[in-house]
Order: sequence, then C-alpha cells, then structure tokens
Amino acid sequence: MTPEDKRPFITLLASHWVSMLGVALATTAGFSWLFVLPQHLRGNVDNPYIGIVIFLIIPAILFLGLALIPVGIFLARRRVVSGLTAVADRRSAWRRLGVFIGLMTFVNLVIGSQATYRAVAHMETDQFCGQSCHVMKPEFTAWKHAPHSHVECVECHIAPGASGWFASKMSGTRQLLAVILNSHPRPIESAMESNRLVDSADTCERCHARSREVGSPVRIVTAFKDDEQNTRSETVLSIRTGGPGDGIHGAHMGPGIRIRYAAADAKRQTLPWVEIRDGKGRVQEFTAAGVKPESLAAMPKYEMQCVDCHNRPAHSFQTTDRAVDAALKAGELPATLPFLKKTAFEVLSAKYANDDTAAREIPAKVTQFYQKNYAALCTTRGAEITAAGQTLLSLYRRNVFPDLKVTWGTYPNNLGHNDSPGCFRCHDDGHAAADKKTITNDCSACHQLVAVDEASPEVLKTLGITLQKP
Ligand code: HEC
Ligand code: HEC
Ligand code: HEC
Ligand code: HEC
Ligand code: HEC
Repeated sequence: MTPEDKRPFITLLASHWVSMLGVALATTAGFSWLFVLPQHLRGNVDNPYIGIVIFLIIPAILFLGLALIPVGIFLARRRVVSGLTAVADRRSAWRRLGVFIGLMTFVNLVIGSQATYRAVAHMETDQFCGQSCHVMKPEFTAWKHAPHSHVECVECHIAPGASGWFASKMSGTRQLLAVILNSHPRPIESAMESNRLVDSADTCERCHARSREVGSPVRIVTAFKDDEQNTRSETVLSIRTGGPGDGIHGAHMGPGIRIRYAAADAKRQTLPWVEIRDGKGRVQEFTAAGVKPESLAAMPKYEMQCVDCHNRPAHSFQTTDRAVDAALKAGELPATLPFLKKTAFEVLSAKYANDDTAAREIPAKVTQFYQKNYAALCTTRGAEITAAGQTLLSLYRRNVFPDLKVTWGTYPNNLGHNDSPGCFRCHDDGHAAADKKTITNDCSACHQLVAVDEASPEVLKTLGITLQKP
C-alpha cells in the first residue's frame, strides 16, 4: 500500500456518489425524525400507525444511508487503488461535502416541515385508518353510516394516557407489518376475538355516562314480506333500557353490579357460565345444561362491559333482510315493483367471486327477473328496474367485501336476539343456578311488544305517529 492510498475518510467519502447518497439518506432520515417525533409525543391520543413511520421506515432509511457510506468509501478507494481516478485533494473534498450538506439541509428542512408534517397530519385522519389501509375498508364503510360517524376511530380504539399510547404503537406496528406481509387474517378478527378491547371506562364512558336514565324508548321496526306486493308491516315495542337503578342498563351495569361470564368460543357467542355479584352480598352462578366443570375451568372469563351488548356501535353490518327492508322503507327501492323484496334478497344472498363480478351480475339478475316474469314492466318502468339493480349493488358494497372474506353475518351484532344469539347467549332460559332459577327469557322483562307485524298498528295512531310511506 502506498501512502497515496491512505486517503482520509472525508476525501474518499466525498469522491463517490454511493457514499454521498448514503449521507443524503441518513440526514433526511435524521431530519424527518426530528420533525415527526415531537409531533408524535405531543398528543396522548393519535394514530397508531405513525409508529410504523417512526419505528420502522425512518430507521430503515437511516440505516440504509449509514450502510451506503462505507460501501461508497470502499468503492472510491478501489477506484483510486486501481488508478481509475485521480485522488481529489482534501480541500476540494471538504468543499464538495460542505456544499452538499448545506444543500441537503435546505432540502430536508423543506421535506421535514412540509411533507412530513402533512403525512403525519394525514395519518391522524379517519380517512387514513379506513381508506389508506384497505383491510379496514369494511369498518370504514359501515362507520360512515353509523351514529358514531363523527366519532373518530381512535376515540374507541386507543385508551387515553401513556400506556394506551404505547400499546397502540405496538399493536399498530404489528398490524401494519401483517398488512405489508399480507399475513393478516381474513376476515380481520373482531376486537372481542383478538381480546384487544379497550376498557369501556376509557372509551364509551368518557362520552356516555352510566348514570343516565334513558327510560323506555319506543322502537318501530318496519319489515317487508317476500310476496308479490312486498307487503309492509310494523312491529312496535318499547325497550326497557332504563338507567342505573332499573331496566336493562341497571340490571347489568348498575352500581355495585358485576357480571362475569365464560366464553366457549373466541367470538364469545357461546357463554356457558355466568356469575352475578349485585354489590349487596349476593353472588350467584348460572350454568348452561350439560357443561362439564373441567371444560368450564379451561375457558377464559371476562367481566361484562358496554361492548358485550353494544359490540357494533360504530360499524354495524346489516343482515341481507334488514338491508333490503331499510332500502324499501326509505324509498331507495320501489316497494311497488312486484316481488322486489324476494328478488333482492335472493340476488344479494348469492355468492360473487369479487367486486367486479358483483357489479356486473347483481344489476343484470334484477333486470333478467323482470324481463322473464314481467316483460311489460321493463318497458314502462325500465329506469326504475335499472336503478333498483344499482341500489342493490350499493347495499352489497356496504356489507360484503369478498377480498377480505367479509360477508353477510361475518360480524354478528349482539344487541338483540333476532339476527344472532345476542341477549339470548345468556337469556335462553337454559342457564340455571343451584336453586333452579334461570336468567330470564320473559319477553316483557326487556321490552313491551305493543304490535307485532301489523299493517297499521293502532298504537301508532294513539301516539300520533304517522309513518312516511314512499
Ligand atoms: C364508538 C366506538 C368505535 C368507533 C368510533 C370505531 N370503532 Fe372499531 N370497533 C369498536 C368495537 C366495540 C369493536 C369490537 C367489535 C366486536 O368485537 O364485535 C371494533 C372493532 C373494530 C375492528 C375489528 C374488526 C371488526 O369489525 O370487528 C376494526 C378493524 C375496527 N374496529 C376499525 C375501526 C375503524 C377503521 C374506525 C374508524 C373509521 C373505527 N373502528 C371506529 C368500536 C369503535
Ligand atoms: C367521543 C365520544 C363518544 C364515544 C367515545 C362513544 N360515543 Fe356513543 N355516541 C356519541 C354521540 C355524540 C352519539 C349520538 C349520535 C347521534 O345521535 O347522532 C352517540 C350515540 C351512541 C348510541 C346510540 C346509537 C343510536 O342508534 O342512536 C349508542 C348505543 C352508543 N353511542 C354507544 C357507545 C358505545 C358502546 C361506545 C364505546 C364502545 C361509545 N358509544 C363511544 C359519542 C361517543
Ligand atoms: C345488557 C346489554 C347492555 C349493556 C351491558 C349496555 N347496554 Fe346500552 N343499551 C342496551 C339496549 C338493549 C339499548 C336499547 C337499544 C334500542 O333502543 O334500540 C341500549 C341503549 C343505549 C344507548 C342509547 C340510549 C338512548 O338514548 O336511546 C346508549 C347511549 C347506551 N346504551 C350506552 C351504553 C353504555 C355507555 C354502556 C356501558 C356503560 C351500555 N350501554 C351497556 C343494552 C346494553
Ligand atoms: C353475559 C350474559 C348476559 C348477556 C349477554 C345479557 N344478559 Fe341480561 N342479565 C344477565 C344476568 C346474569 C342477569 C341477572 C339475572 C338475575 O339476577 O337473576 C341479567 C338480567 C337482565 C335483566 C333484568 C331481568 C329481571 O328479571 O329483572 C334484563 C331486563 C336483561 N338482563 C336484559 C338483557 C338484554 C336486553 C340483553 C341483550 C342486549 C342482555 N340482557 C344480555 C346476563 C346477561
Ligand atoms: C333479554 C332481553 C330480551 C328478551 C328476554 C326478549 N327480547 Fe326481544 N328484543 C330484545 C332486544 C334488545 C331487541 C332489539 C331492540 C333493538 O332493535 O335495538 C329485541 C327485539 C325484538 C323484536 C323486534 C323485531 C326485530 O326484528 O327487531 C321482537 C319482535 C322481539 N324482540 C320479540 C321477542 C319475543 C317474542 C320474546 C319472548 C320470547 C323476546 N323478544 C324476548 C331483548 C329481549
């Protein structure tokens, strides 16, 4: 080795583009970090996925940059040794590096303050949670239709405070990795399944006080039959929601009351054991018939929370039946088209390989039905039939996501008992205590059914309620 080869580090570094690129990447990463980190630490509630930028992407760029520097130096040295280039003198090398770093700093300031800031701001939006991350498309779509459509995702999904912040970074980073590696489950597990529920005291109860007395609101459920006339009917019931001291809320969430249950499946749809402590000394266990104590002992136990009943407050998916009924009720589907309820139900219940197939076949099937059975209608009401096909497609897209294996009924709603076991997971009259007492199945414990499937219930007239019938 000649003394010539012992080029100082800086001279070699500045004389090869690879090492200069390394310097550029490393400084960009460093600057971005400086800009993102304080923003990130600032909020106690923010987007979990920013974690992936801070903990994965920026460090990856930094390390790539740092790794390129010695590679460039090595290459520069080799070129010098093999006599391919003359060696730059120290002064001009320093000058070159100085100009370069100055330029990079300027560029970085712009990137850091503008691009990074925008990127982080974007990641805090619900659009990012729901749209940029396609695996959450079902929840985002349903959320837009929910009463909570103005409550941000993070309000329910991230616990406030430092521990919630940390937990969300960890799970957000893990989830994003799963998305990048395409290893996420299809359908995504519900939060109940993955047991990643944030305690309701930290989420729901920041906005909804447990102590609120709701009383017994009246609910009107409109349904349509699958006959030629799509016969409409109303069910009227008053729900005993109650408050801290009475009704449904009082029975499970009243002062001092603690209910625990054992779950036989991950989705918590089969609950063979329930225990109540009423805060006044009574402790009672209810067990489903035929459950062995050994298998009970192995099951996980949970304390009942708001989300055990309200598991889909923000992204509830419809059943096929209810989706069609709601559209008929709203006039989005014309109830005067013969057999529309039946046709819609059948067309929507069929399987479609992907969204494109559905987009082609759903409207086509509707048109075919009327062409075959009511050819005259196709000329007089052709536009309505075409529109009905498009409405059905939008109902499909609101609830079915073939690429994520989300379809009708994938995510059951526990609030009720008509569409999935819901309340009857415990209130099936089959969970008995030692004294033979069961968890009640008495219809009137939960609601007063004032009219069931009636065309024009008397009670609505009494209450002065006129239903809009499009
Ligand atoms: C009002 C509270 C609330 C809001 C707001 C909310 N979620 Fe949820 N989310 C829940 C609950 C409760 C569950 C658990 C559902 C279950 O276990 O059945 C859940 C479950 C999920 C799941 C797991 C899969 C599933 O459907 O069960 C995803 C993904 C999800 N939410 C994404 C989102 C996104 C994206 C947003 C914003 C667009 C959002 N959530 C807004 C309460 C909420
Ligand atoms: C950031 C505040 C906030 C949080 C957190 C929140 N909610 Fe709400 N919730 C609201 C608001 C506001 C409404 C009223 C929406 C309306 O009537 O348009 C509402 C409405 C509701 C309703 C009535 C829905 C209906 O059909 O009218 C239920 C039930 C409910 N929330 C349950 C929950 C549960 C369960 C959670 C926790 C998983 C929760 N909320 C978390 C703000 C919140
Ligand atoms: C045992 C099941 C159950 C539990 C647990 C439960 N709820 Fe409810 N809740 C209901 C039912 C049923 C209704 C009535 C639904 C309806 O009116 O269609 C209701 C109604 C509501 C409403 C709407 C009230 C209105 O103005 O009509 C809110 C808000 C609500 N619950 C919040 C909560 C919160 C917060 C918690 C936890 C502290 C909770 N619920 C726990 C079953 C439950
Ligand atoms: C995890 C099991 C479980 C689920 C799910 C459940 N409950 Fe309960 N419920 C209980 C227990 C336990 C009691 C107390 C029974 C007792 O004290 O004898 C109770 C009591 C009640 C009572 C008071 C009954 C009475 O005779 O005073 C009502 C009303 C009620 N539940 C309604 C509901 C509704 C509505 C739902 C669904 C939205 C529901 N429950 C879901 C376990 C459950
Ligand atoms: C443990 C409480 C509970 C018991 C017991 C119960 N229900 Fe319900 N029921 C509910 C809840 C909660 C809903 C849903 C309310 C809503 O729409 O939010 C509901 C809804 C209904 C509806 C409305 C129809 C629809 O399509 O939504 C009918 C009809 C009904 N119940 C009939 C009955 C009958 C009949 C019995 C007795 C065999 C019964 N229920 C027992 C809690 C109960």
